[in-house]
Amino acid sequence: MGTIEDRWRHSITRRDALRSLAGMLAGAPLMRTQVDPRPLKDHRRAPGLDEMLTAFDFEPICFANMPLARYDYMAHGSDSEFTLRRNREAFEWVELVERAGVSADAVNTATDVLGLRPAYPIFIAPSTNQRDLHPDGDAAMYQGATAAGIPMIVVGASSVPISKIAASANGPRWSQVYPIQDLMAAREQIESFQAAGARAIVVTIDQQSSRYERDLHDRNLGGIVRVRGSAPPSSVPTAGPAKYRVNPGRLWYSWKYLDDIRPFIKGPMVVKGVTTADAARTCVEHGADGIIVSNHGGRGMDYLPSTLEVLPEIVDAVNRRIPVLVDSGFRRGSDLVKAIALGANAVCLGRAPRWGLGAFGPAGVQRLLEIIQAEFREAMATTGRTTLAALDRTAIRTNFP
Ligand SMILES: Cc1cc2nc3c(=O)[nH]c(=O)nc-3n(C[C@H](O)[C@H](O)[C@H](O)COP(=O)(O)O)c2cc1C
Repeated sequence: MGTIEDRWRHSITRRDALRSLAGMLAGAPLMRTQVDPRPLKDHRRAPGLDEMLTAFDFEPICFANMPLARYDYMAHGSDSEFTLRRNREAFEWVELVERAGVSADAVNTATDVLGLRPAYPIFIAPSTNQRDLHPDGDAAMYQGATAAGIPMIVVGASSVPISKIAASANGPRWSQVYPIQDLMAAREQIESFQAAGARAIVVTIDQQSSRYERDLHDRNLGGIVRVRGSAPPSSVPTAGPAKYRVNPGRLWYSWKYLDDIRPFIKGPMVVKGVTTADAARTCVEHGADGIIVSNHGGRGMDYLPSTLEVLPEIVDAVNRRIPVLVDSGFRRGSDLVKAIALGANAVCLGRAPRWGLGAFGPAGVQRLLEIIQAEFREAMATTGRTTLAALDRTAIRTNFP
């Protein structure tokens, strides 16, 4: 074999060479939007920020800006992804009832949730790995949310330190935690978040035993994508909760945990991950000052119901004793109107602002939230309601199966 062939054989492969060439081109300023693991099927060019019309428009841009495994980490639901789909499908079973005579300018969308008075009933839901979306991660999300006047729930396992997030903007902020078995460690975490300015602590209790099959499939796509949380079959544990695919961080706690940590929490305690009326009542009994109806965006146990379907019975069970927030699947202003009409006090957005961040950074988060705010105002005016208090169940028609 000649020297040239030998060098070719022992240096980089043709595939590696092509990959680096593609990477170099993708990194060039003129081609920045072309870092696309799968082509944007119907797009001939990448649209700019000022061309975004709905929250959905941000998703393909965000997708194009990141490797498949990072996108799938955000997009996936558990197992067969029934709950993930159901969360969106549920909005098709609720229609708006039109009432004429109210202009969008006359609508007051302001609300009051546990001492916060945002101009819209919208929060950013806590979510991990925001550095997958932007180099400044959660700090960039916080900047975008604050610019749009939206409070943020900072995830406990944030991808940049809480001190950096706190220093990057000055909007209202809550912090989220998961149950920790060592109560002293739990106390330390809660106190550190409160010291950093969290005005409430959100305790996520969904007993999720999530398995993300999408990620497992990604392993087969060339073997180079980064996969998280999906152990290869050879390392499936044979003992402990993991034997049953249960995340060892979950399914160990009981309601008493809320009593145990309540003394550490100075402001309101909000419990996230409620999907039944019973659980909602129990949260109230255990000192919750608010709840978030959530199936973790379809990332918890699959075949949980959509949150929109269970919202009315939970609202009835709580009976106005504490505020009820809701998340999972919300993308449009009209989605929010439906939840408020069913009795929610506010809605948290998970993936949608992540698309904004991944597509255009903090400016993308701000723009996406402003689009949803405008849609929300338009839908409120269409139902003829000028305040959130007036947005009751007569503003919608529900056809849940
Ligand atoms: C990538 C990602 C990571 C998440 N991480 C957390 C978390 O660490 N803690 C938590 O309480 N919820 C977490 N969530 C769930 C969100 O808070 C929220 O419940 C969910 O995203 C709402 O559904 P949506 O994405 O359809 O809006 C995460 C969601 C996503 C998409």
